[in-house]
Order: sequence, then structure tokens, then C-alpha cells
Amino acid sequence: MRAFNIEELRLAAKRRLPRAVFDFIDGGAEDERTLRGNREAFANVKLLRKVLVDVSQVSTDTSILGKTAKLPIAISPTGAVGFGWRGGDVAVARAAAEFGIPFSLSTSATASIERIATEAPGRHWFQIYFFKDREYCFGLIERARQAGYDTLMVTADLPVGGKRERDFRNDFSIPFRFTPRNMLDFATRPAWALDMLLRGVPQLENLGGMTDHHADTRNLVSSVGRNQDSSLDWEVIKRVRGAWPGKLLIKGVVHPQDAERALQAGCDGVIVSNHGGRQLDGELASFDALPGVVQAIGGKASVLMDGGIRRGSDIVKALARGAQAVMIGRATFYGVCAGGEPGARRALEILSEELTRTMQLCGTRRIADIGPDLLAK
Ligand SMILES: Cc1cc2nc3c(=O)[nH]c(=O)nc-3n(C[C@H](O)[C@H](O)[C@H](O)COP(=O)(O)O)c2cc1C
Repeated sequence: MRAFNIEELRLAAKRRLPRAVFDFIDGGAEDERTLRGNREAFANVKLLRKVLVDVSQVSTDTSILGKTAKLPIAISPTGAVGFGWRGGDVAVARAAAEFGIPFSLSTSATASIERIATEAPGRHWFQIYFFKDREYCFGLIERARQAGYDTLMVTADLPVGGKRERDFRNDFSIPFRFTPRNMLDFATRPAWALDMLLRGVPQLENLGGMTDHHADTRNLVSSVGRNQDSSLDWEVIKRVRGAWPGKLLIKGVVHPQDAERALQAGCDGVIVSNHGGRQLDGELASFDALPGVVQAIGGKASVLMDGGIRRGSDIVKALARGAQAVMIGRATFYGVCAGGEPGARRALEILSEELTRTMQLCGTRRIADIGPDLLAK
């Protein structure tokens, strides 16, 4: 797959996909200030490198939530990957395993918990959304436990859906509603449209059983939030903790007080995240929320972060601010949309090579060498 950076994979995905599908992946909420802010925050912080260090041998090996990983990266959960590439969830999970990093499966994935476990062996994490049908969600958690997933994350930044105006404009919802506007759009990408027509629209495989309980699954993903349980509070975490013997994370934490609360509730850590700028527009960039959370709980628990990681240097900056590892959503999503499993692999290869090169240019040999002294004040 010929692409020299993540942006080129993004453009390749854009060329392959109908606008509605590309915009669903690429877009954010409202004015997309937080979406842009996630990138700008990295650009605003400069590295302060060291020289004359022997960097002929560099290792990116590290430990994430108590287990070794080949890179300080994990895959963030993303719903509806199959709309961008049929079988895309399995493709990304296989690429992650090949690179020795954890893969997170979304509740709203187009592959089931069990399918990932059997078709893409590796280290698996499961992400849970709590819908109004709470018992169904606890059933999913139990399935993930039985399938050998070692980490569970509760996504907490989606009590209601963010206002994603690109989706409204493009008449995009899942399952698809065919409207005159989006039919025209789909017709501009005949290969994609033909595949959908001939082989059918991918299903949100984990949620199949929920149709009985919910008259409307239409808005589960894109016009997000309609089925979400907006009454969810910290109480549920107690029950989750009791039901889940593995590592437990809260995803979508930005407030230091919430990070402390997560620890009190028995969590093993948090993911500093604003859902890739898809939820509350106008909130702080994840990278800028990181220091407050690290100060509150760093050293006592794992702090991961996602949002805007597109370059190896972004990873170095996040680690320098105290993240144990970063997570990536769109980077591998663009890759898989650009070219299936080889595209997802290419995304990881690009980030891995850039990370190694950045470490060498900064005079750091090991992940543990990356500290706050690498950031200009
Ligand atoms: C298309 C798409 C679908 C997503 N679906 C989910 C999801 O189902 N569950 C979840 O917790 N986060 C979801 N996210 C958020 C990601 O897990 C992650 O927080 C975000 O993508 C990180 O930002 P980045 O894309 O800039 O790396 C989604 C993000 C995208 C782009």
C-alpha cells in the first residue's frame, strides 16, 4: 500500500468511499473545533531533543495495563467499520495482533465479540456502551469475559449523541436509509455501492439480539444517542466492577476529579478522550486534558489517551506528558478503508517507523526514556 503518512491514507479512503460514509468517519460535532483542536494541541507543543546518544538500537517495547506490547499504542474502539471496508473489524484486529498491540472492539462493531476472538487471535479489549436495555449490555460484558477479552472500557462521554452535522447533511444513519440524496452519493462510488447491493449491508453484530427489546435501532451509531441510557451514573461502575475480573477503564475522562472517582470505583485507569471530537464541541483537546489527569492519578493508575494521533511525534509528546500509551481511532480506520488489512497494517507501520525515528532524533533509546524533559516549556 503506497502511502507515506496517515493523511495520505485518509485521502485514499476519501477516494474510495461515498461522501456520507467518509464524513461519518472523518467528521466531528458541530463546528468541529474540538476535532481540529486535538491536532492543534500537538502542533502547539514543541519537542526539545537531546544529542550524542547512541541510538543505533532503539526499542519501542513497553507495558500496557500490565502486559507487554511492541508499541505504546492500542486500537481505540470504532463502530461501523464494516461500512468502510467489509470485514474491516477483523482486518484491523489482525493488523494489531501482527504489530503486538491490543485491539479494542466496539459495542457497535460490525463483527461480534466471538468472531474477533476466533478470526483474529491477539490481545482483545471490549468497549461497552450502556443502552436503555442494561441487562443486554451486561450480557455483552459476560460474553467478552467468556471470549477471553482481558480489558473492559466503559465509554462515559456519550450520555447523548454529539451533534454531528455532516451526518445530518448527508442523510447518514445506520442501518442505511436510502434517500434520494444519499443514493446519488452512493452512485458516485459504484464499486462500494455494488458490494453493498450484492452482499448486503453489514450488521452491528453485537446488537442483533437487541432488536427485540428496541423498536428503533436506526440511530444507534450515526445519529447517535437515541438508545443510550442518559441516566447512567457512577452507580453502574460498581456493578461492572463486580462482573468484570479483568482490567477496567473509563473512556472519555477529561476532568481530574472524574479520574480520581474512577480510581475510587475500583477502575485500573482511564482513557483521556473526547471521542475524537465527535461529542462535546468546544471542549479541551485530549492532549491538553492529559496533564491534569496525570497529576491526579498518574503513578496510581494507568492513564491512556486518544484523539488526534497521526504522527510518531504525537506519540512521543503524549508519553512525555505522562500517558502510559496512546490509542488510535481514525489512523487505522482510514488505513482499512483505503485498502483492507494491508491498509490497516500500513497505518501501524507508518506510526511505528515514525515513532522509532522520532525517538532516535530525540536521543531516546527506550520508551522509559521519554519524559517531560523532552518538551519545551
Ligand atoms: C468512526 C468512528 C466511530 C467511533 N465509534 C466509537 C465507539 O463505538 N465507541 C467508542 O467508545 N468510541 C468510538 N469512537 C471514538 C474512538 O474510540 C476514539 O476515541 C477516537 O476516534 C480517537 O480520536 P482519533 O480518531 O483522532 O484517533 C469512534 C470514532 C470514530 C472516528
